[in-house]
Amino acid sequence: MTEIRDNFNRTFKTLRVSLLNTCNLACVYCCCGNEDSKENYRDAKSKALSATELITLIRMLHERLNLTTVRLTGGEPLLYKQLPDLVAGIRQLGIPELKITTNGLLLEDMAPALKEAGISSINVSLDAIEPEVYYLMSRRHDLSRTLKGIETAKHLGIDVKINSVVMKGLNDSQIMPLLQYAFDRDITIRFLEIMAMGHLHDSADKHFFSQEEILALIETKYSVLPLPRKPASTSNYWQTAGGHLFGIVANESEPFCSDCNRLRLDAYGNIYGCLSSNSPISIREADQQSLDGGLMEALAQKQSVKFTGSTLSMLHIGG
Ligand code: 5AD
Repeated sequence: MTEIRDNFNRTFKTLRVSLLNTCNLACVYCCCGNEDSKENYRDAKSKALSATELITLIRMLHERLNLTTVRLTGGEPLLYKQLPDLVAGIRQLGIPELKITTNGLLLEDMAPALKEAGISSINVSLDAIEPEVYYLMSRRHDLSRTLKGIETAKHLGIDVKINSVVMKGLNDSQIMPLLQYAFDRDITIRFLEIMAMGHLHDSADKHFFSQEEILALIETKYSVLPLPRKPASTSNYWQTAGGHLFGIVANESEPFCSDCNRLRLDAYGNIYGCLSSNSPISIREADQQSLDGGLMEALAQKQSVKFTGSTLSMLHIGG
């Protein structure tokens, strides 16, 4: 196999696949935060790729990239009707790690099938542990469903992590209770700095809560030691004196573009080499030659310094 590399010797090793751009939450950072808006639910699911089409594209990409990880995202990937078949199909491609990022609402029901199909790890987005704040962030009253999803997956022996986006003035009060929730269950939790994406493109500053602020808050209660950063990792990690792990994804204050190896594939068969890029490269109809051209184009989209903002919401491009 010839691996695709650019002149800077960069390549892609992790593929993040957005299965559909619909979601059963309406989180303030993804959508406008207005629960009556159907705007984000409109894009026809029918245009999205079928499981068979996705498996074919992922196989072609894997042939050129020798991928180590596929992560399924959305929108909300558990809404994708053929999810267990898709997972089983990707599993057969021999890519070592197959993971999923979900809001957890449908996880209680689906965790057994996902485990059976070969999912090795699940990231659950959970931005609050108090029902009112959960509602403020997600515009839905579904906290207990999310928590049941987390516990079910954990009991099945799936590796579960929690991702919490922190927004100043909205859910920064949740950092300590979320940390406690995760520590009590031996779950690794990661706090994310808000990114200037989608409708927050010009206003993310207002809610920015930095890695430094998050850490200072945690250090009021725990003594912590930084762990060495793993190559291509999005997260910095610390360990408490009690042995608990937590992470901070500091997109803004400590960007991790330099060794980023992530490629994104959206629900319509477009690839993106960088979250900062709004320019889709279609590989839906690609043959091997045009796929190689597309991958080189995606490599050229990579930012070398930091995320520069995007008008595209995570709803479309996956986290
Ligand atoms: N900034 C930071 N994180 C975001 N996510 C979605 N939008 C943003 C944003 N603007 C997170 C979700 C989820 C993951 C898929 O991406 O909360 O954890």
